[in-house]
Amino acid sequence: MTKLTILTLPDKRLKTIAKPVTVFDQKLQEFANNMLETMYEAPGIGLAATQVDEHIQLVVIDISEEKNQPLCLINPKIIQKDGQQVHEEGCLSVPGIYAKVKRASTIEVKYQDETGKEHQMQADELLAVCIQHELDHLKGIVFLDHLSPLKRKMAMKKLEKEAENSD
Ligand code: NI
Repeated sequence: MTKLTILTLPDKRLKTIAKPVTVFDQKLQEFANNMLETMYEAPGIGLAATQVDEHIQLVVIDISEEKNQPLCLINPKIIQKDGQQVHEEGCLSVPGIYAKVKRASTIEVKYQDETGKEHQMQADELLAVCIQHELDHLKGIVFLDHLSPLKRKMAMKKLEKEAENSD
């Protein structure tokens, strides 16, 4: 397996809109495994292909404490949203920044697995947050885009400062 490089803001490639996956071959399965390894090593609970500069509709998620419940959602679509929840989010592409984001509390999502088989699942709480966050990446959206202009500006300043300090 290969650990992939994660893009960070303000990298413009994070704004790319991902294309649907049409070929479900061994290469795709290897990519999904590399995505999972990269996410676990980061460590993170979700990673979208966009974040490793592969612009296909694929995200990996694992919110379990034991890190033994990997999910790979390909061509995912949220078909129903209900309620509202506010959760403090972070992102591997926005290191060191955390902010409260308002999202749907329950979602119904359709997706395909690595073999192309179709699935449908319902998610709530943290899993619902995570899925909505990762699916945003596939549309070129990061969680900071959900904040007010002022809060987003403050977060970007903090991000710049942290980048300077790490140089
Ligand atoms: Ni993210």
